[in-house]
Amino acid sequence: MNIDDLRKNMKSILSDSRYRHSVGTEEVCFDLALIYGEDTLKASIAGIIHDCARYLTGDELIEECERNNIMISDVERKRPHLLLHSKLGAIYAKEKYGIMDEDILKAIEFHTTGRPAMSRLEKILYIADYIEPNRNMIQSIDYIREIAYQDLDEAIRIITKQTLEYLSSNINLIDPLTKETYDYYVNQCK
Ligand SMILES: [Fe+2]
Ligand SMILES: [Fe+2]
Repeated sequence: MNIDDLRKNMKSILSDSRYRHSVGTEEVCFDLALIYGEDTLKASIAGIIHDCARYLTGDELIEECERNNIMISDVERKRPHLLLHSKLGAIYAKEKYGIMDEDILKAIEFHTTGRPAMSRLEKILYIADYIEPNRNMIQSIDYIREIAYQDLDEAIRIITKQTLEYLSSNINLIDPLTKETYDYYVNQCK
């Protein structure tokens, strides 16, 4: 599928607001790729398709992950919408949309939690998902947008910090990988 087909497909399966978010993420992925010398087509594909499993219900996500032999942690089982759509999205990207590029697949798989030592493309999608233009209710969003165009690692440090703060009222529901990502990028930014 070319990128136009991917856009049409996302429009047909996602809600209007999720589709707008995906287009916004694609645009920011493209811009960040230009600035940081990443492949703009790869970044655009990752951006438009990253939420391709987000339309499923929580139960369907669990069912589909089990069918695809994806290990499900307790935290993921409690928050399938947030945590499992990225893992399943990577599988769908490969199987339904024929994307074979491992870097794109990893970027989709880890776009919610991040992970230590992300590739440049993984970082770009992780950040674009957070700062795309439809995300306006986020604390310090304009500042984070500014940083994103100057220093990917610093942007990740700030985003993971805010995510952990947001989730801290539900401490049992934090994916350990989010904390590991934060710790790693705090160190990187010293
Ligand atoms: Fe997502
Ligand atoms: Fe997203």
